[in-house]
Amino acid sequence: MTERIPLVIDTDPGIDDALAVLLALASPEVDLRLVTTVHGNVELEQVTENALRVLHLAGRSDVPVAVGARASLIHPQPERAGHVHGAAGLGGVELPPSPAGVDPRPAVTALAELLTASPTPVTVAAIGPLTNIALLLAVHPEAAARIGRLVVMGGSAGRGGNVTAAAEFNIWSDPEAAQAVFGAGLPTVMVGLDVTLPTVLTTDGIDRFAAAGPVGRTAAAILQQYVDHAKDVYGTPGVVVHDALALTEAIAPGTLGTVRRDVVVDTTLGAGRGQTLVDRRSVSASATAVEVAETVDPASAVEFLVQRLCLLDGARA
Ligand code: RIB
Ligand code: CA
Repeated sequence: MTERIPLVIDTDPGIDDALAVLLALASPEVDLRLVTTVHGNVELEQVTENALRVLHLAGRSDVPVAVGARASLIHPQPERAGHVHGAAGLGGVELPPSPAGVDPRPAVTALAELLTASPTPVTVAAIGPLTNIALLLAVHPEAAARIGRLVVMGGSAGRGGNVTAAAEFNIWSDPEAAQAVFGAGLPTVMVGLDVTLPTVLTTDGIDRFAAAGPVGRTAAAILQQYVDHAKDVYGTPGVVVHDALALTEAIAPGTLGTVRRDVVVDTTLGAGRGQTLVDRRSVSASATAVEVAETVDPASAVEFLVQRLCLLDGARA
């Protein structure tokens, strides 16, 4: 078997974040070495507690959780997403508390030390606002340069926004951080709404991992608020688990079709704030270009997710 990819997940759990973490834990291709938390869907204390409890749910409270940024870099995030993820961030589901506490190091320190010490290139999956990654670039640029692959759930090339007409939530939550990250020249893949919105996890798929055992059943319960929200707001019989698709790309590089594009983030304070301006006129040769995910096979991506989540209970879908 090929060597497992060292993986860090920077996250703001968050219902789809929880699914993404569980997906990583179920995937033999990756070795989840660290989880760093960032403000976003709900407040930092809550996302951190959620991260600890999701790891414990899967029997992996050994994975260290380091606490990151409480707020965006420059301008306050206008609002959280409790109305989508539930006030406590996990769809109203109260998970058992973890026996583990948080890592004593700040997230940026823990991430920098892991990157510096790893003999193997580390994949970082950033599935919340990019504040921690921007701080890593500012405080430990030499460690940031060692990132083997940065897979970002965020932005949109041509699908507009979800939190506003122009902006996707993670970018909108800290546009200045996103601009710093996209402009840094790191080996970055942008997994945006163009590929996440078509990738719908239906209740049939949810029922399959719910039937696999207690972990799958709990994951389905966490998703229920997302299912209800999607039905109420979009009238769709399923949910878009944005972060889980980003982790699928991190676990199985090449799942998504990408094109090197120049990406600029609107950091003005107007109606376009947080928009990712993706130049699709040409394939970019720039050193700071970003691999923008533009194509996906939704059925294949959903099947990958469902089958892996079933493995968490030792079952095969
Ligand atoms: O726009 C989707 C992103 O915003 C996901 O990361 C979800 O968790 C929310 O934070
Ligand atoms: Ca998220």
